[in-house]
Amino acid sequence: MHFSWLIKHQLLCIIIGIIASTKVGCFQFNFSSFQPLDGTDKLLLINNVAAIYSNALQVTPDSNSMLDRSGRAFYNKPFRLWSKKKNQTASFNSTFVLNINPHTSPGGEGLAFILTANTALPDNSSGEWLGIVNATTNGTSQAGILAVEFDTRKSFTEDGPDNHVGININSINSIQKVPLLSKGINISSGLNVTVRVEYVNYSISVYGYMTETSAQELLLVSSPLNLSSYLDEEVYVGFSASTSNYTELNCVIKWEFNGEDIIHDNKSLLWVWIIVATVVVIMVGGVVFFLVWRRKHGVRTLGDAYPRIEDQIQHSSMAPKKFRLKEIKKATGGFSLQNKLGEGGFGTVYKGLLENKEIAVKSHSKDSRQGKQEFVAEVTTIGSLHHRNLVKLIGWCYESRELLLIYEYMPNGSLDKYLFDEQNFATNNSTLKWETRRSVIYGVAQALEYLHNGCEKRVLHRDIKASNIMLDSEFNAKLGDFGLARTIQKKNETHHSTKEIAGTPGYMAPETFLIGRATVETDVYAFGVLVLEVVCGRRPGNVNGQDDYKNNIAYWVWELHGKGRIVSALDKRISNEEMNEEEVSSVLVLGLACCHPNPHHRPSMRTVLQILNGEASPPVVPQERPAFVWPVMPPFFNEGVDISLLNGQTPMFTEITCR
Ligand SMILES: *[C@@H]1O[C@H](CO)[C@@H](O)[C@H](O)[C@H]1NC(C)=O
Ligand SMILES: *[C@@H]1O[C@H](CO)[C@@H](O)[C@H](O)[C@H]1NC(C)=O
Ligand SMILES: *[C@@H]1O[C@H](CO)[C@@H](O)[C@H](O)[C@H]1NC(C)=O
Ligand SMILES: *[C@@H]1O[C@H](CO)[C@@H](O)[C@H](O)[C@H]1NC(C)=O
Ligand SMILES: *[C@@H]1O[C@H](CO)[C@@H](O)[C@H](O)[C@H]1NC(C)=O
Ligand SMILES: *[C@@H]1O[C@H](CO)[C@@H](O)[C@H](O)[C@H]1NC(C)=O
Repeated sequence: MHFSWLIKHQLLCIIIGIIASTKVGCFQFNFSSFQPLDGTDKLLLINNVAAIYSNALQVTPDSNSMLDRSGRAFYNKPFRLWSKKKNQTASFNSTFVLNINPHTSPGGEGLAFILTANTALPDNSSGEWLGIVNATTNGTSQAGILAVEFDTRKSFTEDGPDNHVGININSINSIQKVPLLSKGINISSGLNVTVRVEYVNYSISVYGYMTETSAQELLLVSSPLNLSSYLDEEVYVGFSASTSNYTELNCVIKWEFNGEDIIHDNKSLLWVWIIVATVVVIMVGGVVFFLVWRRKHGVRTLGDAYPRIEDQIQHSSMAPKKFRLKEIKKATGGFSLQNKLGEGGFGTVYKGLLENKEIAVKSHSKDSRQGKQEFVAEVTTIGSLHHRNLVKLIGWCYESRELLLIYEYMPNGSLDKYLFDEQNFATNNSTLKWETRRSVIYGVAQALEYLHNGCEKRVLHRDIKASNIMLDSEFNAKLGDFGLARTIQKKNETHHSTKEIAGTPGYMAPETFLIGRATVETDVYAFGVLVLEVVCGRRPGNVNGQDDYKNNIAYWVWELHGKGRIVSALDKRISNEEMNEEEVSSVLVLGLACCHPNPHHRPSMRTVLQILNGEASPPVVPQERPAFVWPVMPPFFNEGVDISLLNGQTPMFTEITCR
């Protein structure tokens, strides 16, 4: 379905409506012939005498007994002749062809074109009465009839001569009558006579000519006449005729009527406009519905940038709630600048208020090639996870090509601000205390342990770094940003198609560049870097992609460790009173263990937690940072290594992406 198609149709409807409204303003019909079988009889009100026969409307019929008959026939719908309310009288113009075939000499009695509200044939209206009136109703308003009579026989003293035309109102006596011989017309010649009766401007005129011998109509008779004074507002139009002991066949061969329909005019106009309006409303409604529907479901009909995104998410049974764009718009004040929390390569984060809860809305950058994939990854992984050290994903929204993730709001923002943001120190003077740092490390370790071992499917975060650790109002650490996260089956899959490198430089284990994929060990490495930066308050180094070990935090701490001065790596902003040297040293050594160049020597997250809990003894790391060797050596010194990860069953995932 196309927009332009709809508009075209809508226009067409309006045009048809306008044309129709100008057409139906008339009361008109046209019998170019009378056939018993073509349905014309159904358009006529015919009393039991008249008949359609031999291609003619026989007002008095051709039958065995043609004596003393009268008949009437009308068009089956009434014509609104005038309106009292509107003080208006309609005009009309009717042309018909008569054929009167005398059976006696002269023929009798005649035929009339009539307008009356009463279609019933009066009793005893044969003979001189022409089916117009009878002895009772003649000359009374009870008759309520206009007749243009074509009289074939002088039947009473006041009657005109044989073969005359007259205009009669409620009476057999004419208000005007004209002999037809002088007009070259013999109505009872058995030949066709064309007659036209015109009523315009309160004046009636009758024209006629012999159809076969002339084509020039002549004015036969004319008279001013206010029909509203005599007839009902609605009248039927038709013919009447009669015979006596003088007989003839009274026929109408053709009949056309054009009337101005004064009331129906406006009524039908009104109806037409109602119909047109209805159609327009339906069409507009249809278009609106279609657009709404397309926005809701058919985004892909527009050449969707992210096809099947909803399928991917919906298929994930644990997907969080889906929100409407308008709900999120309302919650964030229309994504207003005041509500903007931050901006990055991934997109923009806004603060909002949804159902009285503070939320953070992350809008994915539409330009980012990985936008959709990261969006789906995040919704399907984090959405099904619940841990107090994971940022809670409340819902998502995908509408109008907007990719939105809705999280619980973290009042204290991301960890990196407190570690490295000099501006933040200046304004907040909020250096994290040792205890807070310890609890942050512990929180992240718990989150990561949960991801690796605690949920149904193993999840690799792949992008652990300070800026992805969020702090709630009590500075509890919550791991966020699962854009690079991948779920892997516990039954390890080893196949992988792409060899892209994922993660953030400075946090990536050295083997990443060689194996080109993430493992639990690469997550542990990144965690180790995080531990070191939290304790030292230093950036991890290598952030600018310089492959310079002097610039690497692990190298730097390892050097101090070799010199037996590892505690001096502690952030200078932490006062000596608040920290426990042994504890600081233990945490730093743990960080180094996690940053071991040989993945097999890194502790598992379970071991890390045990060490932090004091359930396991701190790891032993060599005085000197071991060289990175590839392929890696089997483990030989670290008892704490999770064996299950080492039997060639290192979990891998299929795809690696870079950001
Ligand atoms: C009706 O209209 C005619 C002219 O068309 C006028 O002469 C007459 O006074 C009007 N009658 C009323 C009641 O308005
Ligand atoms: C009545 O119809 C005839 C032909 O059918 C036409 O010539 C004449 O102009 C019409 N009269 C009016 C008033 O429309
Ligand atoms: C004339 O016709 C009316 C109505 O059809 C009827 O009531 C009345 O009796 C008739 N008069 C005569 C004289 O038949
Ligand atoms: C009209 O025609 C009929 C049949 O041809 C004829 O008998 C009759 O005399 C004619 N009437 C006049 C007035 O010419
Ligand atoms: C025609 O007759 C009606 C009813 O008697 C009257 O209201 C109207 O004004 C008359 N119209 C003219 C033009 O005389
Ligand atoms: C018809 O009847 C009248 C009397 O009622 C009579 O004078 C006349 O001759 C009759 N006409 C015919 C054709 O029988």
